[in-house]
Amino acid sequence: MPSGKRGRFPKGTPVLDAARELGVYVESVCGGRATCGRCQIEVQEGHFAKHKIVSTLDHISPVGAKERRYVEKRGLAEGRRLSCSATIEGDLVVDVPQDTVINAQVVRKSPIERIIERNPAVQLCYVEVDEPDMHKPLGDLDRLKAMLEKDWGWEDLLVSQHIIPKVQSILRKGNWGVTAAIHQDMESSRPTIIALWPGLHNEAYGIACDIGSTTIAMHLVSLLSGRIAASSGISNPQIRFGEDLMSRVSYVMMNPDGREAMTKSVRAAINTLIEKVCAEGNVKPEDILDAVFVGNPIMHHLFLGIDPTELGQAPFALAVSGAVHSWGSELNLAINLGARVYVLPCIAGHVGADAAGAVLSEQPHHQDRMMLLVDVGTNAEIVLGNSHRVVAASSPTGPAFEGAEISSGQRAAPGAIERVRIDKETLEPRYKIIGSDLWSDEEGFAADAERLGITGICGSAIIEVVAEMYLAGIISEDGVVDGSMAARSPRIVPDGRTWSYQVSNGRQQITVTQTDVRAVQLAKAALYAGIKLLMEKIGIDEVDTIRFAGAFGSFIDPKYAMVLGLIPDCELSEVKAVGNAAGTGALMALLNSSYRREIETVVRRIEKIETALEPRFQTHFVDAMALPNKTDPFPRLSE
Ligand code: FES
Repeated sequence: MPSGKRGRFPKGTPVLDAARELGVYVESVCGGRATCGRCQIEVQEGHFAKHKIVSTLDHISPVGAKERRYVEKRGLAEGRRLSCSATIEGDLVVDVPQDTVINAQVVRKSPIERIIERNPAVQLCYVEVDEPDMHKPLGDLDRLKAMLEKDWGWEDLLVSQHIIPKVQSILRKGNWGVTAAIHQDMESSRPTIIALWPGLHNEAYGIACDIGSTTIAMHLVSLLSGRIAASSGISNPQIRFGEDLMSRVSYVMMNPDGREAMTKSVRAAINTLIEKVCAEGNVKPEDILDAVFVGNPIMHHLFLGIDPTELGQAPFALAVSGAVHSWGSELNLAINLGARVYVLPCIAGHVGADAAGAVLSEQPHHQDRMMLLVDVGTNAEIVLGNSHRVVAASSPTGPAFEGAEISSGQRAAPGAIERVRIDKETLEPRYKIIGSDLWSDEEGFAADAERLGITGICGSAIIEVVAEMYLAGIISEDGVVDGSMAARSPRIVPDGRTWSYQVSNGRQQITVTQTDVRAVQLAKAALYAGIKLLMEKIGIDEVDTIRFAGAFGSFIDPKYAMVLGLIPDCELSEVKAVGNAAGTGALMALLNSSYRREIETVVRRIEKIETALEPRFQTHFVDAMALPNKTDPFPRLSE
């Protein structure tokens, strides 16, 4: 458990061997010498009637001398056994403890927990190598390889060049006992010794990194236990070259050193983040042996040092769409010299490895029901499908949903308005700001507002306020702020030839203008038109379930998204925010290399739709400018 695999083994079989035979990943560094403590398991006691299994502690061998030595030296938690020493003496139900892997994106909603079964691409293997012998002139490295084959079954090993000059000193320093880190990403690839330490080395970490155009997020994870040692984020310093993706591509086109400067700056930020997570998790950067990256196509290209110019114009050609295998040293990453890097495949010119990560995380290709997966940024990445068919597209939503191009817009930060309600009679607003638990009409709010300031409206609240304005009749179905309402409320104020609505009219005035409403309409129409195009491709009128990936999706209220017609009509309980799904996908690919094969296969299957080339996109876009939509019904809204 939890894999549920079962089998029959002769009495006396070590539990570790049984697990291996069943294809269940149980970590082992010392090769069964009962010294590393990585192979721990627990026996479930009880009568498992369905399979007629009676599992008791009598059915596992008692603690032997080697295991006792380990317990005396290092201790073992209650109920735990070393599976390399404990043998099967009868029917058993065995738990392989999995550390809960948490999607720890810093969001205001509770993090999503999930368990990822481990099968990392890097394994630590301790061996005791024969000492040199004048009569057998085999090199030290060759005897090490022979021992790794004998004890661990690694055949045909390659060796990272940086290890070769150090192999003799490491072997002698370890008194002929050394730990090798072996990387094998897929069964058909040749395993490689990527790191070597004297003695028993019991630490192996990996990083899973989502390179967003605004924020870079990273998890530092133990490859041996699956435990997340630290998670953190940092602003993408490329912002100084351009706020959105296209302006960064233009920067490359207009500056001869532009690509290099941006590659350097993103890699430097990743190294700063590595330092940060290592300090937080108390981990040495040299112990990072594997790294998985996701990012939108432009971030993906710039990180890999590829000129993204082709992505700025039709036909939006990717330099490489398949998964990229590389080395940390090639990408100037400050991690172990032999560390490997895996970058998830890109789906299309505007649907990147981040969308592939989100697909891996949410698994639409394994669903019977039709799932819509949306990652809203300046460019929305949209995936729609189920186990039969998956289609994907991107849509140019622009930065309105991130609070840019909105007169009082700002990124989510303390002081930003995050929730808004408008009274339908009086048209008076109530709102909440980030950093305070109180609504604006509650006692104590004034003090919070004084402390934090009321600095602007964040992207999720823009959706809410425009939806509330529509529900209160302040704006029409066409999105026009109705000036005649000024007779009913002083909140509606003239603004040149149009009208605005004042959310906060105190010392810190926050106003929603007609131009703001138009910007939201344009963004939501682009998103909806992209979704509609995909629904048409598949031939459906309705989706069964909607997943919002990314920070924006975590804060947006699905009801308001539907009021505005951002997303198609769907049961509200079926609309869920999934946080940084791209990062979770990267984490899955880091901890279990079979997910890498899975996503590579799925991405090849996904049908890519280029919205810019689809004449129907424009029609859907125009219809979607209306609130919620000119032609499409939203029956669940009236419910
Ligand atoms: Fe190392 Fe069991 S494999 S203690």
